[in-house]
Amino acid sequence: MSAQKPKIEIVEVAPRDGFQAVKPFIPTERKIALIEELAATGVTRMEIGSFVSPKALPQMADILDILQAAKLPAGLRKVALVPNGKGLERALAAGITEISWVISVTESHNMSNVRRTVDDSFKDFAAAWGSMGAGKAKLRLGLSVCFDCPWEGRVPEASVERAVERVIAAAPDVEIGICDTTGRAAPDHVAHLFSKLVPRYQTDRVRLAYHGHDTYGLGVTNAIEAYRQGVTVIDGAASGLGGCPFAPGAAGNTATEDLVFAFEHMGVATGIDLGKLLVAADHVSTVAPEQCGGKLRIVPRKRALAGFGAATQGFAA
Ligand code: COA
Ligand code: ZN
Repeated sequence: MSAQKPKIEIVEVAPRDGFQAVKPFIPTERKIALIEELAATGVTRMEIGSFVSPKALPQMADILDILQAAKLPAGLRKVALVPNGKGLERALAAGITEISWVISVTESHNMSNVRRTVDDSFKDFAAAWGSMGAGKAKLRLGLSVCFDCPWEGRVPEASVERAVERVIAAAPDVEIGICDTTGRAAPDHVAHLFSKLVPRYQTDRVRLAYHGHDTYGLGVTNAIEAYRQGVTVIDGAASGLGGCPFAPGAAGNTATEDLVFAFEHMGVATGIDLGKLLVAADHVSTVAPEQCGGKLRIVPRKRALAGFGAATQGFAA
């Protein structure tokens, strides 16, 4: 009898974090086709898009059309990002039951991203969530720039802890996304921060998730460090597409296919079909090839798909 493989949930965020970084408008039909293809890889949760100001992010303006037309598996958890009460209202009206709300740990990034002080953002969040969201939807509160801020440099761990406490005070049932928005976190920093956060805050009601970018090639390593500290929800973007438009110098999220390969190779099941994901990631990359990354797509496919861990097959001819 083989031992049960440990599990991790990889959240696909290319349709939100990836597409939002692409300037030319991606036709809605194209987005829908890519989202449907990603949904068929076995992924269980996906950020479909955002209910943000169309002036701030024109690329996300067609979220309603996407939600109406995309044919997605019944079990897929469909998540939409919102930055304010208006976004929450629009998302709930559209039938969304999983919300991803963002607040930055630093003042400078929060101002760049949502044009509010951190205090105002927390007040807006507490008021909107208290009156509209609690009980109606699941919540991920993504804390941006938990490690490094383009304007303020390295972010003190105490600032992240304070932000985590404010989130829990306003929403006791929550998944908190600890985000390396710029991709500049060092692996020891990721390990150290989670070694403090996980024992202190992770409970039946509060889960921690890791959202990393791969700007400096540390995305997979950092995700593994988070996992080793007890984090079992990790974000990725197929083909590594992306780069936050409000965080200068950031590349895309860690490529989902690289994360799937790394975790499966370590015996940590993801539930995602890597072969299907690689094909989907190739298609996603066509929307902006110059904004994509990742390693696995450039490995000859036969080698990439030669199995994992002890079950690896020979692939040389
Ligand atoms: N959805 C749609 N429209 C919205 C909106 C939302 N969630 N929030 C605000 N708006 C509209 C307002 O109705 C107003 O429209 P009008 O000019 O036609 O009257 C306009 O946007 C400005 O509203 P205001 O409340 O003054 O917002 P702002 O200009 O200060 O912008 C945000 C604040 C948060 C709405 C905007 O910065 C934003 O959407 N940012 C996106 C952040 C993001 O997604 N970042 C990447 C992910 S981390
Ligand atoms: Zn991001």
